[in-house]
Amino acid sequence: MLDINTIEKLDKIATPFYYYDMDLFRRTVDTASELAQQHNIMVHYAVKANVERRLLEYISSKGFGADCVSGNEVLHAHECGFPAGKIVYAGVGKSDKEIYNALKLGIEAFNCESLQEIYVINEMAHVHGLKANVSVRINPDIDAHTHKYVTTGLYENKFGISQHEFDKLIDILKKSEHINFIGLHFHIGSQITRVDEVFALECRRVNEIVAYFERNGLTVSNINLGGGLGVDYDDPDENPIADFGTWFRTISENIVRRDDQKVHVEPGRSLVAQCGTLMSRVLFVKSGETKNFLIMDAGMNDLIRPALYGAYHKIENLSASQRTFYPTHQAYDIVGPVCESSDVWGAGRLLPLSVRGDLMAIRSTGAYGQVMASRYNMKDLAPSVFSDSLEDAAEAVDYFTLSSRA
Ligand code: LLP
Repeated sequence: MLDINTIEKLDKIATPFYYYDMDLFRRTVDTASELAQQHNIMVHYAVKANVERRLLEYISSKGFGADCVSGNEVLHAHECGFPAGKIVYAGVGKSDKEIYNALKLGIEAFNCESLQEIYVINEMAHVHGLKANVSVRINPDIDAHTHKYVTTGLYENKFGISQHEFDKLIDILKKSEHINFIGLHFHIGSQITRVDEVFALECRRVNEIVAYFERNGLTVSNINLGGGLGVDYDDPDENPIADFGTWFRTISENIVRRDDQKVHVEPGRSLVAQCGTLMSRVLFVKSGETKNFLIMDAGMNDLIRPALYGAYHKIENLSASQRTFYPTHQAYDIVGPVCESSDVWGAGRLLPLSVRGDLMAIRSTGAYGQVMASRYNMKDLAPSVFSDSLEDAAEAVDYFTLSSRA
């Protein structure tokens, strides 16, 4: 929960906007960095979770690599300080233009997701007189026990190459003269909360697969286990920093590695989710036939996770937290302004009595928030506001102050 001083400053800024707590962000990255070093694990930040330049510049300054899934992410990560030699590039559908640009940049590895992709990259490298580093994304057929939309490591998913193609794959890798095979890549899903159980299972399956490739004559120098560490959406104040300790310890205890093999992970959400809050205001309070609606100025265009995955985000009324009156709580359906019935932040949420103009915090929105925003209904994109430069942001015109709040 924010202190009164900060709430007062935030209350002067035009909503909706994404507020980033830079102190929490740095502590999160520093914690991950220290623990990763203790366990000799290389971290590549999954850029897709949040592409904000200030965040990327700090993460790259800590020596992390970047995990990208589009040509633009590769170029952006590079501009934000990630050296080409620390950028890996995954994704089932890389276009020729995207491959060409990444090849020219000389990235650490293409994480290839199909046999055809390997043919194409080998061919392009040949034509341009280059050699491409290639890691192969394997589909290990493991249930990550998470939402079906963010499960990626089952045979029913489109990601990676499955076991039935392993022999063909090994053959192709050996014959492709313009690629340099560097290792195997896995990513089984996101928002994984059964950390020790699921990642131990992943490691054991990875050990078998690595051994199979090595028995068949390929040296696996890099083992990339992907991302997926979950965060506490229910209680972000109780658990502001994700459990990197358990994740890395589980990996250390379960992965079989030689001294010459590097182990990589690709966290996205766990590095940036908790430091971000989508700030919004109550526009109107409406009594429906059976319920009360709080109509907010932020909607599914700003954050699509609730509408798309039924995701839960904690919501707080920051203005009410400062009032000594209005002691009662009430159940509200909190909704956005977009013309879709799925534009709902939460149904039947218990909040202090809320009024027009109240500043509301939609918590844990630093990951997959701003990056998935759209301009649906021609809404403006919510800008970023940083905790260490609040005064600059307060200069923005707040039209709300021009009208009555009551
Ligand atoms: N590596 C690969 C290859 C990935 O596909 C992903 C995420 C990550 C790493 C990072 O995973 P994380 O540590 O963030 O769980 N939009 C969804 C999440 C989609 C995740 C896609 N891939 C959401 O809002 O929950």
